[in-house]
Amino acid sequence: MKYIFFLFVWFLVFSCSEKKQQSLENINEPFNEGWKFHLGDVLDGQNPRFDDATWRDLSLPHDWSIEGEFSEDNPATPGGGALPGGIGWYRKSFQANSQDSGKLFYIRFDGVYQNSEVWINGHSLGIRPNGYISFQYDLTPSLNFGNSLDNVLAVRVANSPQPNSRWYSGSGIYRNVWLSKRNKIHMDNTSAFITTPFITEDSAIVALSTTVLNKGEEEKEVEIRYEIKNQNNKVKASSNSSIVIAPEEDYPVVRNFTILNPDLWSVEDPKQYTLAVKIFQNDELIDISETKFGIRYFDFDPKGGFSLNGKNIKIKGVCDHHDLGCLGTAVNKRALERQLEILRGMGVNAIRTSHNPPAPELLDLCDKMGFIVMDEAFDMWKKGKTEYDYHLYWDEWHEKDLTDFIKRDRNHPSVLIWSIGNEILEQWDSTGIPITKELVSIVRSFDTTRAITSACNPPGPFNNITRADAMDLIGYNYHHAQFADFLENFPGKSFIATETTSALATRGHYDLPSDTVKRWPIRWDIEFTQGNPDNTVSAYDQVSTPWGSTHEETWRLIKKYDFLSGMFIWTGFDYLGEPTPYGWPSRSSYFGVVDLAGFPKDSYYMYKSEWTNEPVLHIFPHWNWKPGQDIDIWAYTNEDSVELFVNGVSKGFKKKSDDEFHIWWRVKFEPGQIMAQGYKNGQKHLQKLILTASEPYKIGLEADRPKIQANGRDLSFVTVSILDKDGTIHPNADDPVEFEIEGPGKIVGVDNGNPVSHESFKAKRRKAFHGLCLVVVQSTSTKGEIVLKAKSPDLQGSTIKILSE
Ligand code: GAL
Repeated sequence: MKYIFFLFVWFLVFSCSEKKQQSLENINEPFNEGWKFHLGDVLDGQNPRFDDATWRDLSLPHDWSIEGEFSEDNPATPGGGALPGGIGWYRKSFQANSQDSGKLFYIRFDGVYQNSEVWINGHSLGIRPNGYISFQYDLTPSLNFGNSLDNVLAVRVANSPQPNSRWYSGSGIYRNVWLSKRNKIHMDNTSAFITTPFITEDSAIVALSTTVLNKGEEEKEVEIRYEIKNQNNKVKASSNSSIVIAPEEDYPVVRNFTILNPDLWSVEDPKQYTLAVKIFQNDELIDISETKFGIRYFDFDPKGGFSLNGKNIKIKGVCDHHDLGCLGTAVNKRALERQLEILRGMGVNAIRTSHNPPAPELLDLCDKMGFIVMDEAFDMWKKGKTEYDYHLYWDEWHEKDLTDFIKRDRNHPSVLIWSIGNEILEQWDSTGIPITKELVSIVRSFDTTRAITSACNPPGPFNNITRADAMDLIGYNYHHAQFADFLENFPGKSFIATETTSALATRGHYDLPSDTVKRWPIRWDIEFTQGNPDNTVSAYDQVSTPWGSTHEETWRLIKKYDFLSGMFIWTGFDYLGEPTPYGWPSRSSYFGVVDLAGFPKDSYYMYKSEWTNEPVLHIFPHWNWKPGQDIDIWAYTNEDSVELFVNGVSKGFKKKSDDEFHIWWRVKFEPGQIMAQGYKNGQKHLQKLILTASEPYKIGLEADRPKIQANGRDLSFVTVSILDKDGTIHPNADDPVEFEIEGPGKIVGVDNGNPVSHESFKAKRRKAFHGLCLVVVQSTSTKGEIVLKAKSPDLQGSTIKILSE
């Protein structure tokens, strides 16, 4: 009986504390559902009594520009993606439970493009011009508690006037929004900073500094429990302390922990830890804050280049803008993950968040997947690059924006480099010196554990940003011809090629012959005249901007010199806007190694053959030409040698020399097939076959993931191929494809990677481009089978099933 009584008491205590704990786990919740949206300005939209019944219902994140129509006349200009901007309003009504009336309610926006103002129940909480920065407001003073009264949050977003960006910015609340309900005594979630000042194989010191806030009216004694867990949820360090905290006090906490036999964070094995700080009052859990971190050390050595955890590696990076192709800038974690997976497939180990603070989810993924990040703050300082860009807000906002950015991102193990700016105009005159010093000192006041750089243009000593002599790492964009002189020009300094290459290509388009490089003279007033009337660019690696190079030219140098710690290719993915080398009707870039839809261009395999240990034999182009035409067959490979056959007849063996990155043959086209036979250690190894495609006959559908989660966010990216009757992709097919969807899923985007297409990304149809297009399917919160059908007037249709569970 006694035992039963004890068991009962134990059960009560345990289950209550479990409940308390569980409810605390929801202290930070997504606040993305149930919003109303109106495109255009309204009078008094912040008024709680404003009638928004006719406004559109939607969930965040949301980018209204991507829903619009392309036009050369849109104020964003083709440089900004040629889609509409303007002003939009968002409103959300919600109730605050009366049981929570003693709590604090914070709202956090991960990013709103741009010039937002937020109101709660008609009271302005603040404005934020910067479209890339995360910010939070305290809703509590103006909040109504209880079921009888609604609260109305209103957000006005002004992506106008334009142009205010050199690339597609997107418009709206395009990142996640979070609501955090906290006890009056809670951890300040913006102040936690975890460093690892001492690391050996046997142990690591983890140093935490953070702040406990008491927003209540009474002095309180609370106990703080700290716990560090590893990836497998095993507790690796813990400790407790008690503090007495006065009303309105910000109580700083500094704490050291020792982790024995630490698991290091690395590119190959990105192990992370989680530090939980729990506040207890009278043994009751009242607040939790959890921060992930990694244990790793790195160095940029002037002679030896970059090393991570003592191991020398080249930074093989790409620059990327923040749009997700047909999804626009509306952030989606799976879409980001897919981009990273594709990039990892070519051997990329680093990302530059050009040229702005990224979505937090990108950094979480880089932490988890083992990408090094160069986290960039600004594309301009006081001097603007477009008429209405951030330079207008520089004086008032740069200090706060930079501070908030560093504090937000400084616990991510992936972030190893801060960039304080890209091609900043102040580098050309002496005003660059004091601003560089100021920005570096702001960064250092919040983090001294990472390298600070800036992506500069001229590498010479007259560059005022480098002249400030404040940064840890010299970074410049392009100028690969001067790489070799770096040590002489900057003795004792370390270097990173912050931006390289800017080669250009349209996926699937090939100009012959392929052995000439096309570039125009390096003058802004001289246009590219060697192009094609249909605005295509050859996908043989033979076209580059004058300031850049072919893919091979830059990689050859980076590979050659140990002191070059690495490079960031401009760009990993094509992006909306900046349609170089053509203007309108082109509306997106040609720079990507991967096109806007996520289909790799051929150069992808050059990197893959150099940057991974996977066996690669990629031959191109296709085999559909005019009889008798001279065709250059290229191979990107890491085989020892390759023999090429045209319809069974050998065209000879080829082998790369040490600093060559492709081999090629010039052969006459005759319908049939080409076959490449790779050899490794004298043995036949990889084989690659390309067939002449006959007429387009049927549609092929392939999902990147046939099973997705029924959470209303997950995505399946379905590749649509136009095939001949034997299943060969037709390399020139541009058939229109119509989609129908049944079951718990919806089509959220379509694309084909053609930078000249003006078709809508938000339609249920798309023309193929060089035999391919893409349809993106999103789950709903209902489980079940999603059926996607594709049809086209002259083709046999196709159906694919995606399970949402
Ligand atoms: C660079 C610039 C990038 C992009 C690129 C195109 O100079 O930093 O943002 O404009 O040129 O080549």
